[in-house]
Amino acid sequence: MSNGDVSQGRRRFLIGATSVVGGVGVVGAAVPFVASWNPSAKAEAAGAPVTVNVSKLEPGQQMTVEWRGKPVWIIRRTEEMNENILELNDVVKDPLSEDAAQPAYIEGELRAIKEEYAVVVGICTHLGCSPQFRPEVAPADLGEDWLGGFYCACHGSKYDLAGRVYPNQPAPQNLEVPPYRYDDENTITVGLDPEGAA
Ligand code: FES
Repeated sequence: MSNGDVSQGRRRFLIGATSVVGGVGVVGAAVPFVASWNPSAKAEAAGAPVTVNVSKLEPGQQMTVEWRGKPVWIIRRTEEMNENILELNDVVKDPLSEDAAQPAYIEGELRAIKEEYAVVVGICTHLGCSPQFRPEVAPADLGEDWLGGFYCACHGSKYDLAGRVYPNQPAPQNLEVPPYRYDDENTITVGLDPEGAA
């Protein structure tokens, strides 16, 4: 019965220190650690939609849910965060995500159904590490121009808080936006399109 086969869990991700508030000093070599994800239900392994209550998410915070064996981040963005994203329109590689994996109903620079909540797949488009949430502005290690975003410690790719990749990074594309919809104001289902969406 309990054979303790810990390695049985095959859904593993390379996770670069995910943190709720960021500001974690990553000292020395940027080595991602490997986190084990224990799928909570067989249904999730089969790719079923995942419903999330976001009412406890504070402005500026990130939470992670698992969908189809992948980490999906939900970030409650502040107005300042969204202003900072727009400031980067002339900086990022693909500001309107014309070459990005995202549903057709996700449009514009902020890449979200509601501007306040970003929903993105937390897997770097380079080689699949999971970037760190780095919401702070101008931290010492990322430089004065950093306006908050995601930093992939594996090979240094940078994304803004809409998951848009900076130019000249190892990562070729913006982070993926999964299909999702709002069931009500505080409930998001990842893996289902909004009613009426193609
Ligand atoms: S996997 Fe993210 S930069 Fe290489």
